[in-house]
Amino acid sequence: MIIGVLTGGGDAPGLNPTVRAVALTALSHGDEVVGFLDGWRGVQENHTISVDRAWAERILDEGGTNLGTSRTNPMKSEDTMNAVISNFQANKLDTLIAIGGDDTLSVAAELSRRGLPVVGVPKTMDNDVPETDYCIGFDTAVNTVTQSLDKLRTTSASHHRAMVVEVMGRDAGWVAGIGGVAGGADYILLPEVEPDLEDLYSHLETVRSRGKSYALIVVAEGVQLGQPQNLENAKTDAFGHVQLAQKNVGETLAGLIEERLGWETRSVVLGHLQRGGSPSAFDRVLGTRYGAAAVEMAHRGEFGQMVVIKGWQLQSVPLESIAGHTKTLDPSFIAQATRLL
Ligand code: F6P
Repeated sequence: MIIGVLTGGGDAPGLNPTVRAVALTALSHGDEVVGFLDGWRGVQENHTISVDRAWAERILDEGGTNLGTSRTNPMKSEDTMNAVISNFQANKLDTLIAIGGDDTLSVAAELSRRGLPVVGVPKTMDNDVPETDYCIGFDTAVNTVTQSLDKLRTTSASHHRAMVVEVMGRDAGWVAGIGGVAGGADYILLPEVEPDLEDLYSHLETVRSRGKSYALIVVAEGVQLGQPQNLENAKTDAFGHVQLAQKNVGETLAGLIEERLGWETRSVVLGHLQRGGSPSAFDRVLGTRYGAAAVEMAHRGEFGQMVVIKGWQLQSVPLESIAGHTKTLDPSFIAQATRLL
């Protein structure tokens, strides 16, 4: 077979182990591997590299994606879709393995609708792709949040301050929720739950009255504080998503806490640090299993499908089934995690 592979959307640690597994599995089958550079842009503009064993072998522990990525959306016009289809054919691909989040996979689903043989692999540190327990990049991001909270605890405690930590997560609070609990946050605000600032203030008062002189508050970037902000002129990506960092939710919340409680409060935005660094052991194993499984799916002719993991089992689901859905945190976890202790 001739197998194409691309990584699209925001980068995440674990992409390189996934591409490595795609390549090594395919090459062991005697396949040829074509790497498309910078996500769908590489297919649209036919920017490719030939992936060999030596290239693939050495990328296991590297963060980011050595294929490059972009948020290119070829569905924006028929011309760009036609360019993608014609380059697909020009490279004589028997399949294209698209590794990405809901935006990247929505393009794969559209190509499948048009009869092209594609296979999807779920990647996003937000962990919000439906039908799978884990997306590539989530575990490493959670580790980064946990380590950051450990560091922020000592400086907050030394200065007897409250510290608001803004983490990524537009519609789902996986990173905020799991990272916040792992890092001992006193309070976590999630996009799934309308913020109750009175509850936050009263919990922080309780924390203080118990003799603790500092507090850690984790807030997901997608949390809406008060009135919806007018983001009409805000920058958006090719899929129409507003750049949430512009909302400054962490800084705003820190101001509100300081004003209301008279407790000196600082804020920090973890931002793209959450997407950097060497992939965790979990993300390396997940990416390796996903990448190898995607090639096996292609050899079985299971196209228009995405590989997923449920429990410890790999399965496949139709790409169609994820379109327009977001996997949010389980309500029982939300109820427990928002303020655990
Ligand atoms: O990849 C998803 C995501 O991490 C979101 O949580 C975040 O809002 C966005 O990427 C930031 O993207 P960019 O790298 O384009 O600023």
